Amino acid sequence: MTPSDCAAAKINLQIDENEFIASLDPLNADDLLPIIPQFNKNHNVNGLIELANQIMPSEADVRSWDYYEANAAVRDVGFLLGSLKRHRVEPCSVIPNLEMIMKMLSEKTFLPPRDTLLHYTVWNPCGTRRRTYTGTLDEQCLIESVAMAMSPLVKAIYLLVELHRIPIQSAAFKAVCDRINIHFQKVIEGIVFARRHVSLSYFSKELRFYFDPVMIGDREYLGPGAVEMPMFVFDHLLWSSNCMDEEYDTFKKTYVPYIHWEMREIYHRLENKPNLIDKGIDTIITRGIASDPVVCESMKGLYSIMQQLKSFRMPHKTVAEEAYSHVIAGKNKPVCPLKSDFHELRDNGSGGYSPGILSHILKLSNQKMERLNEYVRPNLKPGLCHALSGSASR
Ligand code: HEM
Repeated sequence: MTPSDCAAAKINLQIDENEFIASLDPLNADDLLPIIPQFNKNHNVNGLIELANQIMPSEADVRSWDYYEANAAVRDVGFLLGSLKRHRVEPCSVIPNLEMIMKMLSEKTFLPPRDTLLHYTVWNPCGTRRRTYTGTLDEQCLIESVAMAMSPLVKAIYLLVELHRIPIQSAAFKAVCDRINIHFQKVIEGIVFARRHVSLSYFSKELRFYFDPVMIGDREYLGPGAVEMPMFVFDHLLWSSNCMDEEYDTFKKTYVPYIHWEMREIYHRLENKPNLIDKGIDTIITRGIASDPVVCESMKGLYSIMQQLKSFRMPHKTVAEEAYSHVIAGKNKPVCPLKSDFHELRDNGSGGYSPGILSHILKLSNQKMERLNEYVRPNLKPGLCHALSGSASR
């Protein structure tokens, strides 16, 4: 099955991909996986290994599966990979054929040969079938906070794609901006939910350890952290497709392989092409349409989306800085619930970055907002755009 076959199947079946994958249980693991939290709590590594070997599919199983079943299988194996790694066991060293099976699955899923954020959140069933590492309310809420933000973010991304086709001289432009803001509000609610319901101390002393990278073959693959949200695709379309900042460029490229193939296609289509803000500014300059009231409304629409983005990033940065405050305070003491489980708090997020990257992204997007602000003064009455000078900067 190729990505376009998947798209065609999805249209034909009229299915919601997330719900469909979440509904599948190709490894017959529904009754087996609920024991994982107990094994993790008791540091029962042998139990985890036995369970992993019990649910591992054969080559023939994998060959018989389609994209959806393969993803549901990766999700379930993934909970054992993260659990074993939490106890410092490299899964490939204890599960025969794991490397080969994960690589076969990767070919079917168009994703890396391990579980991603999609598997952990939106492809994870709700209610009694929900898979977790710890079974705690904090973890359930962490999963929920991302799940509630993911589909609205994807919808907002598709609307940004639509916006790329609408001229800024059209009244439809601002209307689409408003629809984007409605979806993005739910993304902000996701981080507010996490702030309220996930103990950050529990996150850094327990949950964080399940998101470490694992070795598959000769390289490491990242754990299913929220950094794998396609937020950088949103940025890319809106303000950063041609951003020359090396650090942010490397950041984006790190996570491209971990996002859904549809998001990856959108990302690649726009690489080195102008984003919405630059396109808007260029059009205003070349056509001399700064004082057109419709154009002013369009630019204000873009500005309000940038503000929404900031309204996600500011509280998220506070959450991340609090969870990793031990690094900032230089107090990284080992946590030792049991002698056999001697762990140091992690200095970096599951994506390998320190919270400093969040300030850096904020700084870059603030710079873009300042540039945009030269062309739209939100405090002025509609229609009174700032006089133009110079050309759009990259
Ligand atoms: C316990 C809560 C959380 C902590 C401690 C945390 C921490 C972090 C850290 C340290 C990073 C830097 C990259 C890396 O992981 O290496 C990051 C990135 C990111 N996180 Fe979180 N996070 C949390 C919850 C969430 C939630 C609930 C969401 C979404 C609803 C989210 C979305 C993101 C995104 C999109 C990025 C990429 C950077 C950006 O676009 O600004 N995080 N997070």
